[in-house]
Amino acid sequence: MDKIIIEGGYSLSGEVNISGSKNSALPILISTILTDERCIIKNVPELKDIETAVSLLAYMNKKVIRKKNVVEIISDTKKNIKYIAPYDLVKKMRASFLVAGPLLAKYGKAEVSLPGGCAIGVRPVDIHIEGFKKLGANVELRNGNVILSCKKLSGNNIILRYPSVGATENLIMASCLAKGKTIIKNSAREPEIVDLCNFLVSIGAKIVGAGTDSITIWGVDKLYGTEYTVIPDRIETGTYLIAGAITSGNIRIRNCIPKHLTSVITKLKRAGLKVICDTNSITLIGKKKIKPIDIVTEPYPGFPTDLQAQWMILMCIANGRSIIKESVFENRFMHVAELQRLGAKLHISDDTVIVEGNSKLIGAPVMVSDLRAGAALVLAGLVAKGKTIIHRVYHLDRGYENLEQKLRNLGAKIYRISD
Ligand code: UD1
Repeated sequence: MDKIIIEGGYSLSGEVNISGSKNSALPILISTILTDERCIIKNVPELKDIETAVSLLAYMNKKVIRKKNVVEIISDTKKNIKYIAPYDLVKKMRASFLVAGPLLAKYGKAEVSLPGGCAIGVRPVDIHIEGFKKLGANVELRNGNVILSCKKLSGNNIILRYPSVGATENLIMASCLAKGKTIIKNSAREPEIVDLCNFLVSIGAKIVGAGTDSITIWGVDKLYGTEYTVIPDRIETGTYLIAGAITSGNIRIRNCIPKHLTSVITKLKRAGLKVICDTNSITLIGKKKIKPIDIVTEPYPGFPTDLQAQWMILMCIANGRSIIKESVFENRFMHVAELQRLGAKLHISDDTVIVEGNSKLIGAPVMVSDLRAGAALVLAGLVAKGKTIIHRVYHLDRGYENLEQKLRNLGAKIYRISD
């Protein structure tokens, strides 16, 4: 298994290009199940999770050609679609459950392994399933699989009990080919939902309201092909912003959408950092003294849970005590024990961590438990004195394209070794 080694204490400077959004690319790739025609998706990041999505589509007998950041998908006229997402692929990536909506809408059946528990909490799929039932699907649980069937889905009014990103995506995809009109209320408002809807509209779907908490979809009979470019990854952008901030760096982040990070940029400015936004780039100028700033993670447009762990590193070196509250996921503090090994002064109580600040982090061996916890450990390694050795880096490969190369270009001393 690979390890990442970081020699901390170097200030970052220069420019970094942001890759396509993992969390947009995944549902967009999966939504091509809804059409038989050729879709060419550009700006798809080269990541393990994308590999899993491509394997899943290929397993289902879609023809998939992937060349660097471009993925081309079309139905194979010689083979029937398999409407099954097996355990081996779903256990690798929870987002595999997103095949349920498009399979049900296009083929009237789907058999998807139930995603089990994962490192960041229980993560059930009850909101997805309640929504499918509202659209007229029969749902059974057999041998660890969710088995969905219907003659033809019928549009309905669905009120989500929580604005789940995945459930909103699954139900939008399902409604695109349903009979009549569906209104999804209390829908998630994330930029990735808007991106998915823009893609679906480009293949002929009728959707309004994406980006608000009420999305209306008019079902159509058929969807077509398209060429589409995925939006930049806002979580990768936020991670580099924090990397610049913790190393008193001076960095320019290119190919990003600053308005997708308003909540984060507001907090960075309150912490005393200089952040200058252009249409599609951000310049961050670090400061020696960082002010402690509390955060509460929330659905978009609130502070993203996917940047909570990284924010904790900034607060570790801030000039006083701050509070971090995780309201989206339970058990998303797996990084805390590892950070304590580096000397961070952190106290957990339920969904809250009190960060003492003024920590002098010192390099040590640490282990990654999930993707964003891994990003936080890399950031910690950039500021820790001496050498930090990061184990189980395969989690990072799920979500950060060319991480070490991009950081090295900014002046970090980081490299990977294989056992
Ligand atoms: C997506 C993102 C993930 C991000 C999360 C929240 C992808 C591939 N992943 O995950 O990076 O951290 O949004 O912004 O886009 N829940 C239920 N029942 C359900 C569904 C969800 O209780 O049926 C709960 C979850 O356990 C969690 C909360 O709702 O506590 C948010 O989950 P959700 O928004 O669905 O996240 P994902 O779509 O899994």
